[in-house]
Amino acid sequence: MRVDIRPAIYSDIPALAEIKQLARNDSTDPNSAAFGAEVRYLTAFLDERQSVFVQLTDRVPMAFCTVRERTIKPFIGYAYIKDLYVHPNWQNKGFGKKLLMHTLRTMRTKGYLNAMLETAEDNTAARGFYEKFGFVRRDIGGSSGYVTYTIDF
Ligand SMILES: CC(C)(COP(=O)(O)OP(=O)(O)OC[C@H]1O[C@@H](n2cnc3c(N)ncnc32)[C@H](O)[C@@H]1OP(=O)(O)O)[C@@H](O)C(=O)NCCC(=O)NCCS
Repeated sequence: MRVDIRPAIYSDIPALAEIKQLARNDSTDPNSAAFGAEVRYLTAFLDERQSVFVQLTDRVPMAFCTVRERTIKPFIGYAYIKDLYVHPNWQNKGFGKKLLMHTLRTMRTKGYLNAMLETAEDNTAARGFYEKFGFVRRDIGGSSGYVTYTIDF
């Protein structure tokens, strides 16, 4: 099996939206409003030249990570991990960790010194994953129901 990680291109977007919808147990019907919203959201990342990394097994996308610069206090200038989604068939096999490591290394080479992310308080699996990775919970009174994590490079 061949595993690659590369910057996403526009033609990846339907596959990335499908991965996200599957990972969230949401509709993968391309005609659904939720799917269309994801396609527009991901397209905006590429339009704005923000970073989207796609991980492929045997050339088929199976995970992706989006990141942009944080512009809101108190984490101005942090690399902001917005999405990290692994296709359900490929979870718990080390791919999420590998993709996140690649993303953070790339952001470090671009001059970033820290990263942050937000995840739902009740997403205990993701919180366990990020904490094991080395992210530290920061209680900053963010959005209700969400937890903020940071990591220094
Ligand atoms: C969360 C997610 C990105 C993790 O990716 P993954 O490929 O499944 O995780 P990995 O196999 O790379 O796990 C890496 C490490 O985290 C650990 N880990 C995974 N889930 C964990 C949990 N619930 N609690 C504690 N540790 C956990 C693994 O044991 C592994 O440890 P190791 O390095 O000692 O072997 C992935 O499961 C996913 O896409 N989930 C659904 C979408 C989601 O919730 N995304 C985050 C939204 S912010």
